[in-house]
Amino acid sequence: MPANDMSQLVSLCQRRGFIFQSSEIYGGLKGLYDFGPLGVELKNNLKAAWWRAMVYERDDVEGLDSAIIGHQLLFKYSGHADTFNDPMTECKKCHARLRTDKMADPKKCDECGSTDLMEPRAFNMMFKLQYGPTEDGSSTAYLRPETAQHIFANFKNVTDSTNRRPPFGIAQIGKAYRNEIIARNFIFRVREFEQMELEFFVVPGTEDKWHEYWLEERLKWWESIGVARSKIRINDVAKADLAHYSKRTFDLEYEYPHGHDEVEGIASRTDYDLGNHTKAQDEFNLTAKVHKNTHSNTKLTAQNLETNSHYVPFVIEPSAGVERCFLAVMNEAYTEETIPGKDGQPESTRTVLKFKPHIAPIKAAVIPLAKNKPELVALAKSLKNDLQKLGLGRILFEDSGNVGKAYRRHDEVGTPVCITVDFESLEDGAVTIRDRDTMAQQRLPITALPAHLTTLIKG
Ligand code: GAP
Repeated sequence: MPANDMSQLVSLCQRRGFIFQSSEIYGGLKGLYDFGPLGVELKNNLKAAWWRAMVYERDDVEGLDSAIIGHQLLFKYSGHADTFNDPMTECKKCHARLRTDKMADPKKCDECGSTDLMEPRAFNMMFKLQYGPTEDGSSTAYLRPETAQHIFANFKNVTDSTNRRPPFGIAQIGKAYRNEIIARNFIFRVREFEQMELEFFVVPGTEDKWHEYWLEERLKWWESIGVARSKIRINDVAKADLAHYSKRTFDLEYEYPHGHDEVEGIASRTDYDLGNHTKAQDEFNLTAKVHKNTHSNTKLTAQNLETNSHYVPFVIEPSAGVERCFLAVMNEAYTEETIPGKDGQPESTRTVLKFKPHIAPIKAAVIPLAKNKPELVALAKSLKNDLQKLGLGRILFEDSGNVGKAYRRHDEVGTPVCITVDFESLEDGAVTIRDRDTMAQQRLPITALPAHLTTLIKG
């Protein structure tokens, strides 16, 4: 049962330490968020799940972690310097800056209703910076607006060092920056975010088949982290709305509290990027009066082993935003329940985040029944340490003292199980395991816990 509106998620995220406004002590910067103790765990788990599915569980994908800052020519030849624009207008009355393609009425200010608006102009969304101490045009660089361009720029490095040939992919997870005209809907549209991107290189002519393949693979992945297919609308993007590099794109649109919106784009990027960087390489060598190398080692190409000729591979690109994934998973997990009393009448309500166990920020909380009994605390601590060594993710030693309250708090942050150590545990070596979703409790010997938890978390 998803949240009724975004404010429920915002409030839970702030209260329980998932997400904070960045630079909040100085009034905050709009469109910039920090991930707190639970947020960083959830984010890491989502990224690990993506990496596992896209790299480890396949035999045709390599990983990359490139620089965040990019050479000005990288973004010139990618087309971003000229075309990565959104149409912007400014209200002459209240001075609000607005994105005209997202306005309710492009003739009326969304903020104050005035019709006195400036002529729309193209606003480039890249963050420009001065790289190094020299302040002339040659020192211009950019924060990358997508991780993809560094993947293309490393195509030759990766193929040379791994002997890969299409079909194969290069995966990368990392920060991207866009100076959005308006940042809104909590972490949905922000100016600093992370992308999980795969550039999958294929032989020209096979791209349509691979495009369908990746659409199916990605839907399966979303299901595996708790976002059902029925919650995702596939938008076969209209030609007029395609990005400058795309011949066809499937947008996966999740039903957020603010409506259906893009969580992932799966684009058929043709040979646009590798082709442009290859052409650029030739131009660059000529301009710099460097010997123009006509061989493939300066070109971003692959070799057809039958004909010995070189070709520029086509690219299929599934690209998902970590923050949008976070918000979708959070919304899917969010549940408010009424708990019946002994007579079957509603007694109380609880908020539960029903995360899939492998995604949950805390895997298990170990709670001593009384925090002022050293022998209970010692047993609970050593149990926590032993379970932590299983490598399943974060296990928390929870010594708040009140077990009932601890259960509710852990329901609210989605901890799959709470393990309570009581006085009997000292005698019989058993503990009480309480399940987040059913609230059922069972007694298990401590020796059975590693297998029990591993099955629960890893499936
Ligand atoms: N390399 C392809 C690319 O960047 P995109 O559709 O512009 O394509 C891919 O971005 C994904 O990145 C989107 O589906 C979205 O999840 C995420 N994303 C893009 N802009 C974002 C923003 N301002 N805030 C949060 N996530 C964003």
